[in-house]
Amino acid sequence: MKTNKMISSLVLASILMSGVYAAVAKKPIDENQLGMRSSDLYSEVNAKPDGTRYSTDAAGTSKKIQRAYPDAPPMIPHDISDFGEITKDNNACLGCHMPDVATTVQATPIPPTHFTSFRPNVALDKSGRFVEVDHDKIVKQDLKGALWQGRFNCTQCHAPQSQGKLRVENKFKTDCLDPVGRKYEKRSYLHEDLEIGVKVGNGL
Ligand code: HEC
Ligand code: HEC
Repeated sequence: MKTNKMISSLVLASILMSGVYAAVAKKPIDENQLGMRSSDLYSEVNAKPDGTRYSTDAAGTSKKIQRAYPDAPPMIPHDISDFGEITKDNNACLGCHMPDVATTVQATPIPPTHFTSFRPNVALDKSGRFVEVDHDKIVKQDLKGALWQGRFNCTQCHAPQSQGKLRVENKFKTDCLDPVGRKYEKRSYLHEDLEIGVKVGNGL
């Protein structure tokens, strides 16, 4: 008897629930209207993304891109497609960005951080492995104007920016305040206050 009662109340409840669902259910959405592309969902042939369009402005005629956050590697605003491959011994970027020429061609000079080695000092231990010495120290070796070769490949960190139609609007706003409230939209300050991250990280 008890079980029968329970079953019938369950049936009643499910009838009531389906009534509620029926009242809120809208017309089904066709699967081709799902997602953000208008082409056939079962074929990739016509689904072309908006192409990559890097700046074609020649160096010297482009507009610098505002930095996203303090000490972000600035994006490359100008065309670099004719500068050839960057190698350790052949690097067209240096022709305009080395500090001694940069001001004459109005390019941003390569900052002092790129002329410094931050690799920690290492030594061989008894088992023949390299171990770090001076573990908690920021190692800073001034290379006296020579580019640190750990940075020779500029486009490893500096990238061009493609302009394209976005399906979803990007609402990101740049925030160039450093941890002590200074604004750095147009230049980096890392070389002036190298330890700032360490201080902030340690709550100092
Ligand atoms: C012919 C000179 C020239 C060459 C070669 C050149 N640049 Fe530039 N670069 C400039 C100038 C000038 C600017 C400033 C924007 C402008 O006037 O177009 C600039 C701007 C930049 C910026 C933005 C700096 C900022 O403060 O926002 C970056 C990053 C950059 N270049 C990287 C590179 C890289 C990487 C290469 C090599 C692949 C390169 N440039 C080669 C002249 C040059
Ligand atoms: C390992 C990553 C890395 C590589 C490789 C690298 N950069 Fe940078 N670059 C950065 C970062 C991070 C910053 C911002 C912080 C700073 O000044 O160090 C920067 C800043 C700059 C700036 C702006 C300086 C200012 O005062 O605002 C220029 C110009 C620049 N780099 C040029 C170059 C060129 C040219 C090369 C190749 C020779 C290069 N970088 C290689 C990471 C890199």
